Amino acid sequence: MNAEANYTIQRWFGRRTGRKLSAARRRLMTVLLPRLRLDPYSDLSDAAALFPKIADDLWMEIGFGAGEHLVAQASRHPNIGFIGCEPYVNGVAALLAAINDKALTNIRVFDDDVRQLMPAMPAACLGRLYILFSDPWPKVRHHRRRITVESNLCSFARLLRPGAEVWFASDHTEFAAWTLERVLRDRRFTWLARRADDWRLPPEGWIETRYEQKARAQGLKPVYLNFMRSDADSP
Ligand SMILES: C[S@@+](CC[C@H](N)C(=O)[O-])C[C@H]1O[C@@H](n2cnc3c(N)ncnc32)[C@H](O)[C@@H]1O
Repeated sequence: MNAEANYTIQRWFGRRTGRKLSAARRRLMTVLLPRLRLDPYSDLSDAAALFPKIADDLWMEIGFGAGEHLVAQASRHPNIGFIGCEPYVNGVAALLAAINDKALTNIRVFDDDVRQLMPAMPAACLGRLYILFSDPWPKVRHHRRRITVESNLCSFARLLRPGAEVWFASDHTEFAAWTLERVLRDRRFTWLARRADDWRLPPEGWIETRYEQKARAQGLKPVYLNFMRSDADSP
C-alpha cells in the first residue's frame, strides 16, 4: 500500500445511475467487473503486475463515460495497460460489454471517483492521462468540484513521470481557460502548444469521444490542451 495513501472519502456530486441495465449488462457487472476492478486498499505498487501480459506503460482515463475512447485506445495500443475511472454505473456496464466483445485484456476499471484511487497508486507510474470533456461545473460556487482543481493537479503531478502527457479537452471554453490558467502557473507541467491556434486542433492520434461528437453536433468548438509533466518537484 502506498505510504502517501489517504483514504478520506470525498463527496461525489455527479450522477451514478441512469436507465435500468439489461440482464446481460447486469451479469457483466456481477461477473466481469470484480475481475477487472481495482481495489484502492490492495497493493497497487507494481503497476505492470495488474495486467495478464507485460504492459510497456500505464495510461489512465478519468471519466471514460461509456468507454468508447478507452476501448479504442486499448485496441490501438495492446502493449499499454489502461486504467479507466468512472462512477457512472451505466457507463461502466457499457465499457464491460465492449471489453467482453473485443476480448481486451489491457483495461482495469475503477468504478468510482478517481480521487479515491489516486492516493493508492505509486508515484510516477503513469505515462499518459486523459481527461476528456470532464464536467465543467459552470457555476462559480461549484468550481471547486472541477477535476483540475489544485489538489488534483498535485495528485496528477505525483502519478505522472517526467515526460508523461496529459490530454485534456473540453467544449466549455471558460472551464478550459480556467484549467489552462492553473496548469500554466504550476512548474510541474508544460503546455505543449506549438502554434497560436494549437488549442483548436486535436493532437495527432486523437480519437473522438461520444461527448465530443454531441458537442460538435450542437455547433460547439472543443478546446484541446496537451501538457507534459516536467522535472520540477513543486508547483
Ligand atoms: C461529460 S462526461 C464525458 C464522458 C467521456 N469522457 C466523453 O467525452 O464522452 C464526464 C464524465 O466524467 C466522469 N467523472 C467526473 N469526475 C470524475 C472523477 N472524479 N472520477 C471519475 N470520473 C469522473 C463523470 O461521471 C462523467 O461520466
